[in-house]
Amino acid sequence: MPTMLVLGATSGIARAAARAFADSGWTLQLAGRDIQRLQEVAEACGGAEVFPFDALDSVSRSALWGLLPSCPDAVLCAVGLLGDQDCACREPDAALRVIKCNFTGLVPVLMQAAEAFEARGAGLIIGISSVAGDRGRASNYAYGSAKAGFTAFLSGLRARLWGSGVRVLTVKPGYVATGMLAGRRLPACIVASPERVARDMLRAVRTGKDVLYTPGWWRPLLALYCALPECLAKRLKL
Ligand SMILES: NC(=O)c1ccc[n+]([C@@H]2O[C@H](COP(=O)([O-])OP(=O)(O)OC[C@H]3O[C@@H](n4cnc5c(N)ncnc54)[C@H](OP(=O)(O)O)[C@@H]3O)[C@@H](O)[C@H]2O)c1
Repeated sequence: MPTMLVLGATSGIARAAARAFADSGWTLQLAGRDIQRLQEVAEACGGAEVFPFDALDSVSRSALWGLLPSCPDAVLCAVGLLGDQDCACREPDAALRVIKCNFTGLVPVLMQAAEAFEARGAGLIIGISSVAGDRGRASNYAYGSAKAGFTAFLSGLRARLWGSGVRVLTVKPGYVATGMLAGRRLPACIVASPERVARDMLRAVRTGKDVLYTPGWWRPLLALYCALPECLAKRLKL
């Protein structure tokens, strides 16, 4: 049975994905900050080993790969922090925290995975980025810029590993009903369930997709938004 390491396994999307992958025959290794909540996720998936991982802690970041009992066949990275843009504007450390949690703090472990998979000639890296990374917006550009960096990192990694037997899937969800959106009032029709995202992700793995917008209608919407000239986009103040 193939094994998948899930980073940020307590996340709403990761929990749904972990169940979907477990149902499809994957064995799971779950990593995150809260061991007790990881154990609960493990139980809901029919059992899994759990490991500490904090993207903000350099010791934890470097230690994780060495803690694994065996090299997994796939890594799913679901770590993310939306943060508060107003706070990020006032406090540089808050902006840096968002950038580390969504991008730079994830790079070392994904690089380790890429090296190990490349040496073996097989593997799958799934990174959950966001449609927010397609263009900076006034309301969340700390988060959006981190996701843009993460998206570019994943596409570069995919290009580097092409032909090596290692695949990289970039997942770009729109709004998803998880703890990340707690307290936000959004029209229900634009908010997807984590289960929907998990299903789309599983299908994308099976069909060998490189980039997944989920739900798919975000792709044309973002293409339109990204085509707007900057002089118009800045006036929208989205
Ligand atoms: N929900 C959305 O609308 C949406 C849209 C687009 C993209 N996404 C992306 O989807 C992914 C999953 O998010 P979600 O919606 O499922 O949100 P979530 O439930 O808030 O999950 C966020 C996850 O990130 C983990 N995390 C945060 N800081 C961390 C750190 N320093 N070290 C390790 N783990 C850390 C959290 O761990 P704790 O449980 O320990 O806090 C949690 O597991 C994220 O990358 C997010 O940016 C979400």
